[in-house]
Amino acid sequence: MTKQILEVRNISKAFPISRGWFGFNKQQLRAVRAISLSVHKGQTLGVIGESGCGKTTLARMLVGLQLPDAGEIIINDQNLQRLDPVQRGRAIQYVFQDPISSLNPRMTVGRSLETPLRCLHNLTSAQRKAAIAEIIHAVKLPVDSLARYPHEFSGGQAQRISIARALLAQSPLIVLDEPVSALDVSVQAQIIELLTEIKQEFDLTYIFISHDLAVIEAFCDQVAVMYFGEIVEYGDCSQVLMEPRHPYTRLLASSAPQIGKSLIAESGIGQLPDPLDPPEGCSFAARCPYSTNECIQLQTPRQMTGNSNYVICHHPIANQE
Ligand SMILES: Nc1ncnc2c1ncn2[C@@H]1O[C@H](COP(=O)(O)OP(=O)(O)OP(=O)(O)O)[C@@H](O)[C@H]1O
Ligand SMILES: [Mg+2]
Repeated sequence: MTKQILEVRNISKAFPISRGWFGFNKQQLRAVRAISLSVHKGQTLGVIGESGCGKTTLARMLVGLQLPDAGEIIINDQNLQRLDPVQRGRAIQYVFQDPISSLNPRMTVGRSLETPLRCLHNLTSAQRKAAIAEIIHAVKLPVDSLARYPHEFSGGQAQRISIARALLAQSPLIVLDEPVSALDVSVQAQIIELLTEIKQEFDLTYIFISHDLAVIEAFCDQVAVMYFGEIVEYGDCSQVLMEPRHPYTRLLASSAPQIGKSLIAESGIGQLPDPLDPPEGCSFAARCPYSTNECIQLQTPRQMTGNSNYVICHHPIANQE
């Protein structure tokens, strides 16, 4: 296995929420709860989970846009919180969930792409121009894109611009937050192909967030399955998806759309629990066909299911069940 490039130790994040008359009722929304994970150089870690489970909150903490309430993020043996913004920007980059709104509408694409070079690297104007030309070519955008504004681009092209901006920071680690979710299937395939090509060309490591199992399966080496702010199963991607050990992973796998199959999952239909009032025990217990009293009452244990694979569950599904 290659060198570990990122280690996340027990990070949590809650948001203060005001409710009721005049917002007097203050509550905490627990978006991410004690997440630990690691990523090795050259690998792609997929993070999958349904809407609202905390994927973007996790991503924003990883790139330093949000401070965790607890826990540590270590990038290349350095604590993220001790890095200044320039060191942070060189260490890890973020491709935002919504590419068009992440670009400044009043700046030409050329100016937007110059920003990471100006802020993070001490280059002359000629060197900046050369770097932008190289990256524009790498992401397969026409050169005249540089003089245009974000609203003049399609979703797929805007995603290429966002990827170009992340590449220009020359960081070896990129967090891609749902980079293809908003795109047509054919454009999705083109962006995945582009990400694969530039990963090789620039020797990158990815954290790839998605709610689409097929995309995760096609693209990732490891997968972290998130449910209600926690990673409930982690491990080698093909192994986890082919032989899920957590009932939630199995539900996800069985509800993936297939031609000829109803879009409604056969079992476990239900909503995420209320993040303002999380359950005491396992947060999946209410939807889980295997739940028992201990799932509802006790803290859920982590059980190793392979070399570094694990599942957080009282009753993991046995192999080949
Ligand atoms: N700044 C914030 N203030 C209050 N609550 C927030 C904030 N950001 C996120 N949340 C809440 O935290 C939870 C997790 O949100 P998050 O955006 O991380 O989910 P997600 O998994 O990325 O969802 P999606 O797949 O829809 O993008 C949600 O309940 C959301 O409403
Ligand atoms: Mg999100």
